[in-house]
Amino acid sequence: MPINSVTKRFGILTAGGDCPGLNAAIRGVCSAAHDRYGMEIIGIANGFQGLIHEDTKLLKPDDFTGILTLGGTILGSSREKPYGPTDKDEPDKKKVYAIMETYSKLKLDCLVVLGGNGTNTTGCKLSREGLNIIGLPKTIDNDIFGTDRTFGFHSALAIGTEAIDRLHTTAQSHNRVIVIELMGNKAGWLALYAGVAGGGDVILIPEIPYDINVIARHIKKQAKSGKAFSIVVVAEGAMSVEEAEMDKKDRKKYRLENGPSIGYRIAREIQDKTNTETRATVLGYVQRGGIPSASDRILATSFGTAAANLLASGKYGRMVALLGNDIGSVDLSVPEGKVKNVPADHFMIDSARAVGTCMGD
Ligand code: F6P
Repeated sequence: MPINSVTKRFGILTAGGDCPGLNAAIRGVCSAAHDRYGMEIIGIANGFQGLIHEDTKLLKPDDFTGILTLGGTILGSSREKPYGPTDKDEPDKKKVYAIMETYSKLKLDCLVVLGGNGTNTTGCKLSREGLNIIGLPKTIDNDIFGTDRTFGFHSALAIGTEAIDRLHTTAQSHNRVIVIELMGNKAGWLALYAGVAGGGDVILIPEIPYDINVIARHIKKQAKSGKAFSIVVVAEGAMSVEEAEMDKKDRKKYRLENGPSIGYRIAREIQDKTNTETRATVLGYVQRGGIPSASDRILATSFGTAAANLLASGKYGRMVALLGNDIGSVDLSVPEGKVKNVPADHFMIDSARAVGTCMGD
């Protein structure tokens, strides 16, 4: 006999960039909601687009079993943002209205949204319009406010670290500098953690503007003391001191003109300033694909089952979160419109510096 539940029927969607662990989380929410509480589940295709275009289907256990280790998302995803790309934009009223209409047509008691900052922010705004929303924090960037970790991060960290390990041996063979660009547009968690795990000589993150002369000096000093190769780990959103002083529009223009991405630009600059052969590797979407790590499977499953418990008790307007060693939840307004950056006094920055890593400043 299923346990009594406030929520009888809910919709579930995945939005924003995908990451390993999404299917594990879907399985966690759906199995617990269905088997333990007897809820009906509507799968919504491609994030908020599925609500706008009424692209939905009833999910049965066959749909969410056997997906624990599967990469990507069985529901599909999109970067549809009905309230506009930034907080300053006007909402697309037609889209918001279509979402509300579909929600009520489907007779949903709640909508579960799995996503990053944008998705949980949209969830928060929809809950202000009167919808019942529960959010789950996912992203390889680990930059969601209100949770100590997001699922997807640990898998991407393992991929980034392995890539750095592999680059080490080839850099050493050729006495080269190799720059590896990792994802992380606004926050440097992934580059910092993978950089420390892989023993990067230089780690550049958006939170610490870099001076190319400081980096060049560090590489030359290492070469002088007998280490003829270097690994530079750079987050895609890292910026120079000069860029940090530009306004957003000018910075965007500068980046477009000096593309294709920061990894290549830094590699060119390092080669010019150090006279050492320098190569760039941009890891890109490899970081988001494939099977989740054991740790992400555990986190995603626990987040999923915690969401089912919130659904059952009718605790809406919450985002499931890792709080210390416990799974809890925070009000959806906590992550709204924010980015969780690496704090300047984070112990990992100090550890990196203590083992001789140059942080670019
Ligand atoms: O998932 C977040 C992220 O990995 C960012 O670090 C990166 O800027 C972004 O995705 C790029 O994703 P897309 O090309 O799918 O928009």
